[in-house]
Amino acid sequence: MRAVVIVDGELAIEERPDPTPGPTEVVVKVRSAGVNAADLLQRRGFYPAPPGAPADIPGLEIGGEIVEVGSAVAGWGLGDRVMGVVAGGGQAERCLLDASNLLAVPDSVDDHEAGGFAEAYVTAYDAIVTRGGLRSGEHLLVTGAAGGVGTAAVQLGAALGAEVTASVRSAARRPAVRALGAARAIDPVEVKSHGPYDVVLELVGAASLDSGVLSSLATEARVVVIGVGGGSRVELDLLGLMGARASIGGATLRPRTVAEKAAVIEAVGADVLPLLSRGAVKVPLLASFPLEQATEAYARFAQGDKLGKIVLVP
Ligand SMILES: NC(=O)c1ccc[n+]([C@@H]2O[C@H](COP(=O)([O-])OP(=O)(O)OC[C@H]3O[C@@H](n4cnc5c(N)ncnc54)[C@H](OP(=O)(O)O)[C@@H]3O)[C@@H](O)[C@H]2O)c1
Repeated sequence: MRAVVIVDGELAIEERPDPTPGPTEVVVKVRSAGVNAADLLQRRGFYPAPPGAPADIPGLEIGGEIVEVGSAVAGWGLGDRVMGVVAGGGQAERCLLDASNLLAVPDSVDDHEAGGFAEAYVTAYDAIVTRGGLRSGEHLLVTGAAGGVGTAAVQLGAALGAEVTASVRSAARRPAVRALGAARAIDPVEVKSHGPYDVVLELVGAASLDSGVLSSLATEARVVVIGVGGGSRVELDLLGLMGARASIGGATLRPRTVAEKAAVIEAVGADVLPLLSRGAVKVPLLASFPLEQATEAYARFAQGDKLGKIVLVP
């Protein structure tokens, strides 16, 4: 198979052996694979693949079709359209997934959208629902809301009945983010004026937390930090945190075991796939690039000021 590989900090297309499935695994013929910030970090040598994942083939999410099925796999068959998260190796013609980590692609979702669904929605769901405990009627703040995870979180929050405030630094992107279901899309410097927030999905990190998020928490607020592109060190007012009975936590998805991922995938299958099927949440696609243009796709991602996902198409 052909795969994107990282060679000395550059991307190349190389031939690699086709993967063969273990008993609980399937091989997916990849129709599209999302590009994520983690891929760009890995290319720069900062975010190595965890043990067991292909070391030099990036790609954390795919959509495609099952072409081989392991001997102990039940419930999935050849030709099934599936999508899922992987710890690496997604940006290739074929990709190995444990069957417990698969999601069925609804008929209403096309092949390109399918490749941009899993990393964004699984991360967003795990953060705002599993960790944040978001309930209908609560106020959710999503920072960095125009990106892949942010656009997923805004739609999910709105679909779950929360009032969503989206913080978006590009003024040009705010109307489109509002159209995804946010009650308002604001400049990050205005965050204090629109609180208090019950749940905060922090996708930017220190730059955002320092600019008013931490002083705008509702009683019993839950802050879930998922991205630190804007810095990872903040000064905390512990007294303020105590007064609000607030909690701050964080999470990463990639290093989790197959079983840990399966637990989130099962919840996403139950709670999010029905929303996706009926169009209550979507995968906003910014651009699709052929696999051979991985360098261009990564460059577009790095450029920023985008709305939604970039996918590679083998
Ligand atoms: N923990 C996990 O498991 C996990 C999983 C997935 C993603 N992540 C992380 O979560 C973050 C978001 O992921 P993504 O896929 O949504 O990335 P993305 O598509 O690049 O979106 C990031 C968004 O944040 C905005 N942003 C970046 N720096 C900012 C700053 N200093 N101030 C205000 N806004 C800023 C960007 O705005 P511009 O367009 O203007 O640059 C963009 O809209 C990334 O850091 C990623 O590494 C973590």
